[in-house]
Amino acid sequence: IVLNYSLIIILIQFMKNIKAIIFDAYGTLFDVNSAAEKCKSKIGDKWEGFANYWRTTQLEYTWLRSLMKRHKDFWQVTEDSLDKSMKVYSIDPSMRIELLKLYKVLSPFKEVPYVLKILKEKKFKLAILSNGTPALLNELVKSNDLENLFDDLFSIEKVGVYKPDSKVYDMPIKKYQIKGEEIAFLSANTWDVSGGGNYGYNSIWVNRNRAVFDNLDYKPKNEVSDLTQLLDII
Ligand code: LAC
Repeated sequence: IVLNYSLIIILIQFMKNIKAIIFDAYGTLFDVNSAAEKCKSKIGDKWEGFANYWRTTQLEYTWLRSLMKRHKDFWQVTEDSLDKSMKVYSIDPSMRIELLKLYKVLSPFKEVPYVLKILKEKKFKLAILSNGTPALLNELVKSNDLENLFDDLFSIEKVGVYKPDSKVYDMPIKKYQIKGEEIAFLSANTWDVSGGGNYGYNSIWVNRNRAVFDNLDYKPKNEVSDLTQLLDII
């Protein structure tokens, strides 16, 4: 990986003030498409379009439910969005149980376990801040042997509203009694980078697929193409 020199300087200055490194879960640490991908021999070529549609619908449901003030937890929203997506993509109904089972044990992106271990050795406070329920987050980290690396798994269930509501981003600040700018918040979800950034975090965009950023009032100063780039600077 070639890192541009000025980017390294900016990142070094930035990390000096950081007391906690907080990660989004779905799409950032764990590959949300991995459930459908593991079924691609049964689903066929449309697996990726189906996986993207499922993810987009799931997120839309979180935002809409927060606006409607009709909360359902992330597992229920995941099931509801799967049911719509299976109809839209004409997926055999017999796949439902298998897809949901795989969603509970999504694979991490390949560099994630290694990078987390090094950050832990460097004594950073590490946490997840996610829409996932406490049970889902526990199972995700446990099934991937990551459970000893995190100080906290912050779930939106505690505040009963989804990201990007500011009550969600408040949780680590209250628990750790630190300032927003002392948190490095990493998310692959552009709207979540903006949500955390507008709140006051130092948001870092994990841009794995050379995507285009949103126009939501916050542009991250820092962008990495995967988590190993964090290690080059700390
Ligand atoms: C989460 C979603 C946004 O983990 O990916 O909170």
